[in-house]
Amino acid sequence: MCGIVGYIGTQTAAPLIVSGLKRLEYRGYDSAGVCVLSKDGLRIEKRAGRVKDLESIVDIPSIAGNVGVGHTRWATHGVPNDANAHPHTDQDGNIALVHNGIIENYLTIKKKLESAGYTFRSDTDSEVLAVFIGMLYKTLGNLEAAVRTALAEVEGTFGIVVLSVHEPDMIIAARRGSPLILGIGDGEYLVASDASAVIAHTRQVVYLQENEMAILTRSGFSTKTIENVDTRSVVEEIAFELEQIERGGFDHFMLKEIYEQPITFRDGFRGRLNAEEGSVRLGGLAPVADKLRQAKRIIITACGTSWHAGLVGEYLIEQLARIPVEVEYASEFRYRNPIINQDDVVIAISQSGETADTLAAIREAKLKGATVIGMVNVVGSTIARETDAGVYLHAGPEIGVASTKAFTSQLCVLTQFALFLGRMKAVSAQQGKELADALEQIPEQITRILDNVEPIKAIAHEYAQVSNFLYLGRGYNFPAALEGALKLKEISYIHAEGYPAAEMKHGPIALIDENMPVVFIAPKDEIYDKIISNIEEVRARNGRVIAIADDDDEHIPRVANHVIHVPRTIPMLTPILASIPLQLLAYYIALERGCNVDMPRNLAKSVTVE
Ligand code: G6P
Repeated sequence: MCGIVGYIGTQTAAPLIVSGLKRLEYRGYDSAGVCVLSKDGLRIEKRAGRVKDLESIVDIPSIAGNVGVGHTRWATHGVPNDANAHPHTDQDGNIALVHNGIIENYLTIKKKLESAGYTFRSDTDSEVLAVFIGMLYKTLGNLEAAVRTALAEVEGTFGIVVLSVHEPDMIIAARRGSPLILGIGDGEYLVASDASAVIAHTRQVVYLQENEMAILTRSGFSTKTIENVDTRSVVEEIAFELEQIERGGFDHFMLKEIYEQPITFRDGFRGRLNAEEGSVRLGGLAPVADKLRQAKRIIITACGTSWHAGLVGEYLIEQLARIPVEVEYASEFRYRNPIINQDDVVIAISQSGETADTLAAIREAKLKGATVIGMVNVVGSTIARETDAGVYLHAGPEIGVASTKAFTSQLCVLTQFALFLGRMKAVSAQQGKELADALEQIPEQITRILDNVEPIKAIAHEYAQVSNFLYLGRGYNFPAALEGALKLKEISYIHAEGYPAAEMKHGPIALIDENMPVVFIAPKDEIYDKIISNIEEVRARNGRVIAIADDDDEHIPRVANHVIHVPRTIPMLTPILASIPLQLLAYYIALERGCNVDMPRNLAKSVTVE
């Protein structure tokens, strides 16, 4: 979380930095700030609120100078106010720093600085680092050495960019645990938390490695470890186009991303699925094919929406490949000394590829000798690089904080992964073909749902002011219920819970009355009759039922208050189609409530702190 941009070159830095920060707001939007080096020293403008709030108060284009840094914040230490906004400076105001991450031992360092007479203007851990670098500069007289020495004492995570009036033709970047990339231009260089902030200027990037530092000047850059050993950097090309990170006529990124799903889903199986042979080719898994064949157990680890996809993956893999699967919250997995064997395969699922807990979980799994596979969307992200092998989601950049297209792409990849393993085992070519045929129909079926959103809008209008929602599903659709509830919580701030439908009678049924809408995911599968019984139980208690059902289901309109019809598919793929109306329902309810759909309060898209 937190977005960082740094620039050194010949253009006016401030507007360029601010436009980069806008692209990074998905990482946090509590406060924003810029610092530009001018001939009169450091000019800092920072405010609580969004980047556009800063722009409305400060005439950004008028800030002269062509070296600068900027930051958009997701608060960890200290409330989101002006003082806690970045950039922070050292005591004398000559060195400025932006930081993404958490300095865990900041209190120890702060005490040391306080006893040496230093004082602080904010409550942040980041300011402590800035002041510390300033103190070290006084004795070392060299910015790079001061940064390096400070970082050697720091515990925790950081992506930082530092600039100083003392050495005005240089910016220094360093990372541990928080991503940073360098944008390589012509006589100009950028540093940013991700490629979206640099793509308008250059497509050539270098992914800074763990514990690496970069020194950027107008004439070039060098990289080395924080311990001062030179490193070799590889220049890579950004893997997406600028248009992909723009709203393209939609009111919100979330809506755009929902509507992209017919394409993104197809991109997830294009060139991989062989419907004729009922098989799948996942080139990225070739290095670990033997390990996969011999795997005794699969552990899926992830957070948030990706964890929900992992739960569907458990059902799919166990069904098709008959290998036991466990699904773990990465945050729990990493801290409970998990039992991991060398013949286990650990799958990390992550849209961003940067989630701190997921990253820590895979490091733990690797340490214990497991084979680690990534299912990641962002090309070149840390998780993608640290796993032994992987399958990219190919969903394209996802900007809306509430994950939508990445979820369906995760299900697309997990289905193929399960088929890939299954075909190594008991799944026949014919069974594989049936699944592949059904998967190939999904994009067009998603389009059909997207072409008929009026009933969903009407339901959203009717229920937008309720306080609670319950989402129920069984089998493959229990995780879909969890995901539906999460989407609603995230963007509308309505309390919502997902439950396995049969568990309703062990607790949630006590909540049912005429004020409680209950969303049932009720495709015609082998447990359809049971779901109908659950619906009747809710109706008997005056609950309001919104059912997501097959388009040829004539019975369900008789028992539900509202029905959202989706095309018929095989049971395994039903959570994919069910998730589309659930995304739309959350979206339209949030709109009715006037919520900021793309930037819901307190959330960030990429959680790079623990
Ligand atoms: C945050 C986001 C969620 C996301 C989760 C995991 O909480 O707001 O939308 O599902 O992180 O992120 P990842 O990038 O690892 O999938």
